[in-house]
Amino acid sequence: MTRDTDFWSDVGALEDIPRQGARRVATAAGEIAIFRTLDDRLFAVRNSCPHRHGPLSEGIVHGARVTCPLHNWVIDLESGEVVGPDEGCVPRHMVELRGARVFLRQPVAVPAAVLEPAE
Ligand code: FES
Repeated sequence: MTRDTDFWSDVGALEDIPRQGARRVATAAGEIAIFRTLDDRLFAVRNSCPHRHGPLSEGIVHGARVTCPLHNWVIDLESGEVVGPDEGCVPRHMVELRGARVFLRQPVAVPAAVLEPAE
């Protein structure tokens, strides 16, 4: 369910995310990793492994899963759950493709671009 305070941000073009790769987005809720699968599905999760906070965006994407680059835990991107025998989960975020642009839903009305350091 979408709350009144939810906010969709244009975070870039689909072509900016390599297939079987990821792109990081800074948000008020922390850093989010947006993954693109080989068949062009998009998933967004917190860019922090539930084991020891490894950067999931630097992991290996296979199917709809990512393997953490630090200790090889596998996270199912559809559910956010760690694949057994390990246990845990990572928060997911809604992401969708509108034309050729990627939109990320955030829990607060602050565009991702606003969060970049001011110069
Ligand atoms: S930090 Fe991801 S598996 Fe250890």
